[in-house]
Amino acid sequence: MVQQSGEVKFAVRTARAAGKILRAGFGKGVRVEHKSAEIDLVTEFDRRSEEFILRRIQKAFPGHRILAEESGRRGEGDEPLWMVDPLDGTTNFAHGIPIFAVSIALWERGRVRLGVVFDPTRKECFWAERGKGAYLDGRRLRVSDTAELRSSLLVTGFPYDAWSNPDNNLDHFAHFAVRSRGVRRLGSAALDLAYLAAGRFDGYWEMRLAPWDVAAGGLIAEEAGARVTAMDGEGPYLTETPSLIAANPVLHGKMTAIILGSNER
Ligand code: IPD
Ligand code: CA
Ligand code: CA
Repeated sequence: MVQQSGEVKFAVRTARAAGKILRAGFGKGVRVEHKSAEIDLVTEFDRRSEEFILRRIQKAFPGHRILAEESGRRGEGDEPLWMVDPLDGTTNFAHGIPIFAVSIALWERGRVRLGVVFDPTRKECFWAERGKGAYLDGRRLRVSDTAELRSSLLVTGFPYDAWSNPDNNLDHFAHFAVRSRGVRRLGSAALDLAYLAAGRFDGYWEMRLAPWDVAAGGLIAEEAGARVTAMDGEGPYLTETPSLIAANPVLHGKMTAIILGSNER
């Protein structure tokens, strides 16, 4: 296996330990609170996992900045930035569906340098370091070489403002549903991207996410050979509200054409 840097080792250990916290709370009838939108949920385990991860980062890297879903930004300047989603897939977690993950990425000098996505249920740890490839535990990952939409299995998600915003992905979903083998909605953007990297899914797109949803998974997908871009098929995707298309380069072109085409209709 490729040598992991100290930071990757730290992020893997931290994600695994946070996953243990989530596993301990899973299926025990957690109390749910609502965030901004009625369908945007948070549980005490989102918070517990985040507190644990933040404590570890602050101890190991006191000068580094942090951007975490439940507590926002910490630190100033241009120090490296940890992007943390302590529980990606909260709705699944709250409903007793075992599809959720811990996502940790490190941003440095204008780009994501490493990413870890840990699935506590299956104990699968997906990770990547820029320029060194993507891995599932010790196994190197490669995206699928599926070139035709008709033989592809795709995955997507729907934004939290889907009730009120007509730009809610249902049009793109309808287009892909009748052109592919199927479109899944797993409910964890981090796992969607990790599964894409592993060749389980052939393509992924989603709109209006948050940076912590896709920072780690995006790098893992790229390091596995995916083209990952904004919805115009070219621009950078890691913005304040990422919208993205990810797939092997051939399928990426075909998906982009459909998305741009359906925007025009
Ligand atoms: C959500 C999941 C979901 C995506 C949502 C995200 P959360 O993250 O990644 O798949 O469709 O938009 O916000 O809220 O469970 O951390
Ligand atoms: Ca998330
Ligand atoms: Ca979350």
